[in-house]
Amino acid sequence: MPKLRLDKFLRDQGIASRSEIRELIKKGFVTINDVAARDPSAYVETVSDTVRVNGETVHYREFVYYMLNKPKGIITATEDRNEKTVLDLFPENVRRRGVFPVGRLDRDTEGLLIITDDGLFAHNLLSPKKHVPKLYEAVLNRHPGEEAIKAFREGVDIGGYIALPANLSFVSGSDPVIARVEVYEGKFHQVKRMFRAVGAEVLELKRLRIGDVWLDESLEPGEYRELTDEELALLSK
Ligand code: URA
Repeated sequence: MPKLRLDKFLRDQGIASRSEIRELIKKGFVTINDVAARDPSAYVETVSDTVRVNGETVHYREFVYYMLNKPKGIITATEDRNEKTVLDLFPENVRRRGVFPVGRLDRDTEGLLIITDDGLFAHNLLSPKKHVPKLYEAVLNRHPGEEAIKAFREGVDIGGYIALPANLSFVSGSDPVIARVEVYEGKFHQVKRMFRAVGAEVLELKRLRIGDVWLDESLEPGEYRELTDEELALLSK
Protein backbone atom coordinates (compact mmCIF):
# COMPACT_ATOMS: atom_id res chain seq x y z
CA MET A 1 0.00 0.00 0.00
CA PRO A 2 1.31 3.49 -0.81
CA LYS A 3 3.02 5.29 2.05
CA LEU A 4 3.77 9.00 2.21
CA ARG A 5 5.36 11.36 4.68
CA LEU A 6 2.70 13.19 6.66
CA ASP A 7 3.80 16.65 5.47
CA LYS A 8 3.82 15.51 1.82
CA PHE A 9 0.49 13.76 2.23
CA LEU A 10 -1.08 17.02 3.47
CA ARG A 11 0.66 19.10 0.83
CA ASP A 12 -0.43 16.83 -2.01
CA GLN A 13 -4.02 17.07 -0.82
CA GLY A 14 -3.82 20.88 -0.92
CA ILE A 15 -4.65 21.21 2.77
CA ALA A 16 -2.52 24.28 3.48
CA SER A 17 0.73 25.92 2.53
CA ARG A 18 4.04 24.30 3.47
CA SER A 19 4.58 26.58 6.47
CA GLU A 20 0.97 26.31 7.65
CA ILE A 21 1.25 22.52 7.53
CA ARG A 22 4.37 22.65 9.68
CA GLU A 23 2.53 24.81 12.23
CA LEU A 24 -0.58 22.61 12.26
CA ILE A 25 1.56 19.55 12.97
CA LYS A 26 3.63 21.32 15.61
CA LYS A 27 0.52 22.49 17.43
CA GLY A 28 -0.93 18.97 17.52
CA PHE A 29 -3.88 19.76 15.20
CA VAL A 30 -3.07 16.78 12.96
CA THR A 31 -3.84 13.22 14.02
CA ILE A 32 -3.02 9.84 12.51
CA ASN A 33 -5.51 7.23 13.67
CA ASP A 34 -6.63 9.64 16.42
CA VAL A 35 -3.15 10.13 17.86
CA ALA A 36 -1.62 13.60 17.57
CA ALA A 37 1.26 13.42 15.09
CA ARG A 38 3.97 15.91 15.91
CA ASP A 39 6.54 14.52 13.49
CA PRO A 40 6.11 15.80 9.90
CA SER A 41 8.25 12.93 8.64
CA ALA A 42 5.97 10.27 10.14
CA TYR A 43 4.69 7.89 7.48
CA VAL A 44 1.04 7.62 6.52
CA GLU A 45 -0.60 4.68 4.78
CA THR A 46 -2.71 6.53 2.21
CA VAL A 47 -5.37 3.83 2.08
CA SER A 48 -5.73 2.51 5.63
CA ASP A 49 -4.65 5.33 7.98
CA THR A 50 -7.09 8.02 9.04
CA VAL A 51 -5.57 11.47 8.99
CA ARG A 52 -7.51 14.37 10.50
CA VAL A 53 -6.78 18.08 10.53
CA ASN A 54 -8.68 19.97 13.22
CA GLY A 55 -10.86 16.88 13.56
CA GLU A 56 -11.75 16.77 9.84
CA THR A 57 -10.79 13.65 7.91
CA VAL A 58 -8.51 14.18 4.92
CA HIS A 59 -9.54 11.74 2.20
CA TYR A 60 -6.55 10.84 0.08
CA ARG A 61 -6.98 11.34 -3.67
CA GLU A 62 -4.13 10.68 -6.02
CA PHE A 63 -5.63 12.91 -8.72
CA VAL A 64 -8.65 15.13 -9.20
CA TYR A 65 -10.62 15.77 -12.40
CA TYR A 66 -13.07 18.63 -12.93
CA MET A 67 -15.41 19.67 -15.72
CA LEU A 68 -15.54 23.47 -15.95
CA ASN A 69 -17.98 25.51 -17.98
CA LYS A 70 -15.43 28.14 -18.92
CA PRO A 71 -17.01 31.59 -19.09
CA LYS A 72 -16.09 34.18 -21.71
CA GLY A 73 -13.60 36.86 -20.75
CA ILE A 74 -11.01 34.84 -18.86
CA ILE A 75 -7.88 33.17 -20.14
CA THR A 76 -6.94 29.49 -20.16
CA ALA A 77 -3.73 29.59 -18.14
CA THR A 78 -2.59 28.60 -14.68
CA GLU A 79 -1.56 32.10 -13.65
CA ASP A 80 -1.20 35.56 -15.08
CA ARG A 81 -0.02 38.77 -13.53
CA ASN A 82 -2.75 40.93 -15.04
CA GLU A 83 -5.53 38.68 -16.20
CA LYS A 84 -8.04 36.44 -14.53
CA THR A 85 -7.42 32.77 -15.34
CA VAL A 86 -9.63 29.69 -15.25
CA LEU A 87 -7.84 28.56 -12.10
CA ASP A 88 -9.02 31.68 -10.28
CA LEU A 89 -12.46 30.04 -10.36
CA PHE A 90 -11.19 27.25 -8.08
CA PRO A 91 -10.55 27.42 -4.32
CA GLU A 92 -7.06 27.46 -2.83
CA ASN A 93 -7.13 23.82 -1.72
CA VAL A 94 -7.73 22.67 -5.31
CA ARG A 95 -5.19 25.11 -6.81
CA ARG A 96 -2.53 24.03 -4.30
CA ARG A 97 -2.73 20.52 -5.76
CA GLY A 98 -1.16 21.87 -8.94
CA VAL A 99 -4.17 21.50 -11.20
CA PHE A 100 -4.06 22.86 -14.77
CA PRO A 101 -6.38 23.10 -17.79
CA VAL A 102 -6.21 20.32 -20.38
CA GLY A 103 -5.83 22.19 -23.65
CA ARG A 104 -6.93 25.72 -24.31
CA LEU A 105 -10.01 27.73 -25.16
CA ASP A 106 -9.75 31.31 -26.41
CA ARG A 107 -10.61 34.14 -24.03
CA ASP A 108 -13.94 34.72 -25.80
CA THR A 109 -14.81 31.00 -26.06
CA GLU A 110 -16.94 29.30 -23.44
CA GLY A 111 -17.80 25.73 -22.59
CA LEU A 112 -16.22 22.45 -21.65
CA LEU A 113 -12.74 22.55 -20.19
CA ILE A 114 -11.17 19.76 -18.13
CA ILE A 115 -9.06 20.73 -15.12
CA THR A 116 -6.84 18.10 -13.49
CA ASP A 117 -3.52 17.43 -11.80
CA ASP A 118 -3.01 14.16 -13.69
CA GLY A 119 -0.29 14.88 -16.24
CA LEU A 120 -0.42 11.55 -18.00
CA PHE A 121 -4.21 11.75 -18.43
CA ALA A 122 -3.85 15.25 -19.91
CA HIS A 123 -1.03 14.18 -22.18
CA ASN A 124 -3.08 11.29 -23.56
CA LEU A 125 -6.14 13.45 -24.12
CA LEU A 126 -4.12 16.10 -25.97
CA SER A 127 -1.94 13.74 -27.96
CA PRO A 128 -2.28 14.67 -31.66
CA LYS A 129 -2.03 10.97 -32.50
CA LYS A 130 -5.26 10.17 -30.66
CA HIS A 131 -7.48 12.55 -32.67
CA VAL A 132 -9.93 12.94 -29.77
CA PRO A 133 -12.99 14.64 -31.31
CA LYS A 134 -14.20 17.98 -29.95
CA LEU A 135 -17.61 19.37 -30.75
CA TYR A 136 -18.13 23.14 -30.94
CA GLU A 137 -21.20 25.25 -31.49
CA ALA A 138 -20.60 28.51 -33.32
CA VAL A 139 -22.80 31.53 -33.97
CA LEU A 140 -21.78 32.91 -37.38
CA ASN A 141 -22.12 36.34 -39.00
CA ARG A 142 -23.42 34.75 -42.20
CA HIS A 143 -24.29 31.37 -43.67
CA PRO A 144 -21.23 30.00 -45.50
CA GLY A 145 -23.45 27.93 -47.82
CA GLU A 146 -24.16 24.22 -47.78
CA GLU A 147 -20.98 23.63 -49.78
CA ALA A 148 -19.04 24.42 -46.59
CA ILE A 149 -20.12 20.99 -45.31
CA LYS A 150 -18.25 19.32 -48.16
CA ALA A 151 -15.27 21.69 -47.81
CA PHE A 152 -14.97 20.86 -44.09
CA ARG A 153 -15.28 17.15 -44.85
CA GLU A 154 -12.41 17.42 -47.33
CA GLY A 155 -10.25 19.68 -45.15
CA VAL A 156 -10.06 23.47 -45.47
CA ASP A 157 -6.89 25.53 -45.79
CA ILE A 158 -6.48 27.54 -42.59
CA GLY A 159 -3.42 29.45 -43.71
CA GLY A 160 -0.75 27.15 -45.02
CA TYR A 161 -2.19 24.14 -43.26
CA ILE A 162 -4.96 21.84 -44.43
CA ALA A 163 -7.19 21.08 -41.47
CA LEU A 164 -8.11 17.47 -40.87
CA PRO A 165 -11.57 16.53 -42.18
CA ALA A 166 -14.29 17.84 -39.85
CA ASN A 167 -18.04 17.30 -39.58
CA LEU A 168 -20.14 20.41 -40.08
CA SER A 169 -23.89 20.76 -39.60
CA PHE A 170 -26.30 23.65 -39.13
CA VAL A 171 -28.57 23.99 -36.12
CA SER A 172 -30.12 27.16 -37.46
CA GLY A 173 -29.83 28.59 -41.00
CA SER A 174 -30.60 32.22 -40.12
CA ASP A 175 -31.23 34.76 -37.35
CA PRO A 176 -28.79 33.72 -36.06
CA VAL A 177 -26.82 31.22 -38.11
CA ILE A 178 -25.73 28.47 -35.72
CA ALA A 179 -23.37 25.69 -36.78
CA ARG A 180 -21.89 22.68 -35.08
CA VAL A 181 -18.49 21.40 -36.02
CA GLU A 182 -16.63 18.37 -34.79
CA VAL A 183 -12.85 18.64 -35.15
CA TYR A 184 -10.13 16.08 -34.46
CA GLU A 185 -7.24 18.38 -33.65
CA GLY A 186 -6.66 21.60 -31.76
CA LYS A 187 -4.67 24.13 -33.74
CA PHE A 188 -4.53 27.77 -32.60
CA HIS A 189 -7.94 29.43 -33.29
CA GLN A 190 -8.81 26.31 -35.25
CA VAL A 191 -12.56 26.69 -35.53
CA LYS A 192 -12.48 30.43 -36.21
CA ARG A 193 -9.91 29.92 -38.95
CA MET A 194 -11.90 27.08 -40.49
CA PHE A 195 -15.01 29.24 -40.79
CA ARG A 196 -12.97 32.15 -42.10
CA ALA A 197 -11.71 29.81 -44.83
CA VAL A 198 -15.31 29.41 -46.04
CA GLY A 199 -16.17 33.11 -45.73
CA ALA A 200 -17.86 33.32 -42.32
CA GLU A 201 -16.82 34.91 -39.03
CA VAL A 202 -17.41 33.22 -35.69
CA LEU A 203 -19.28 35.61 -33.40
CA GLU A 204 -19.63 33.22 -30.48
CA LEU A 205 -18.05 29.88 -29.76
CA LYS A 206 -18.83 27.19 -27.21
CA ARG A 207 -17.28 23.75 -26.73
CA LEU A 208 -19.98 21.19 -26.08
CA ARG A 209 -18.17 17.85 -26.01
CA ILE A 210 -14.75 16.24 -25.76
CA GLY A 211 -14.60 12.62 -26.89
CA ASP A 212 -17.88 11.15 -25.58
CA VAL A 213 -18.21 13.53 -22.64
CA TRP A 214 -20.72 16.36 -22.93
CA LEU A 215 -20.68 19.63 -21.06
CA ASP A 216 -23.14 19.33 -18.19
CA GLU A 217 -25.71 21.95 -19.21
CA SER A 218 -26.70 22.49 -15.57
CA LEU A 219 -23.33 24.18 -15.05
CA GLU A 220 -23.59 27.95 -15.48
CA PRO A 221 -20.55 29.65 -17.03
CA GLY A 222 -17.90 29.73 -14.29
CA GLU A 223 -19.26 26.67 -12.49
CA TYR A 224 -17.55 23.31 -12.27
CA ARG A 225 -18.04 19.83 -10.87
CA GLU A 226 -15.96 16.69 -10.58
CA LEU A 227 -16.06 14.26 -13.50
CA THR A 228 -18.07 11.14 -12.73
CA ASP A 229 -16.27 7.77 -12.80
CA GLU A 230 -18.08 7.02 -16.05
CA GLU A 231 -16.95 10.27 -17.69
CA LEU A 232 -13.41 9.67 -16.52
CA ALA A 233 -13.47 6.17 -18.01
CA LEU A 234 -14.76 7.58 -21.33
CA LEU A 235 -11.92 10.09 -21.49
CA SER A 236 -9.28 7.56 -20.44
CA LYS A 237 -9.97 4.91 -23.02
N1 URA B 1 -11.20 26.97 -31.97
C1 URA B 1 -11.11 28.30 -31.80
O1 URA B 1 -11.01 29.04 -32.79
N2 URA B 1 -11.14 28.79 -30.57
C2 URA B 1 -11.26 28.02 -29.46
O2 URA B 1 -11.30 28.54 -28.33
C3 URA B 1 -11.34 26.64 -29.64
C4 URA B 1 -11.31 26.12 -30.90
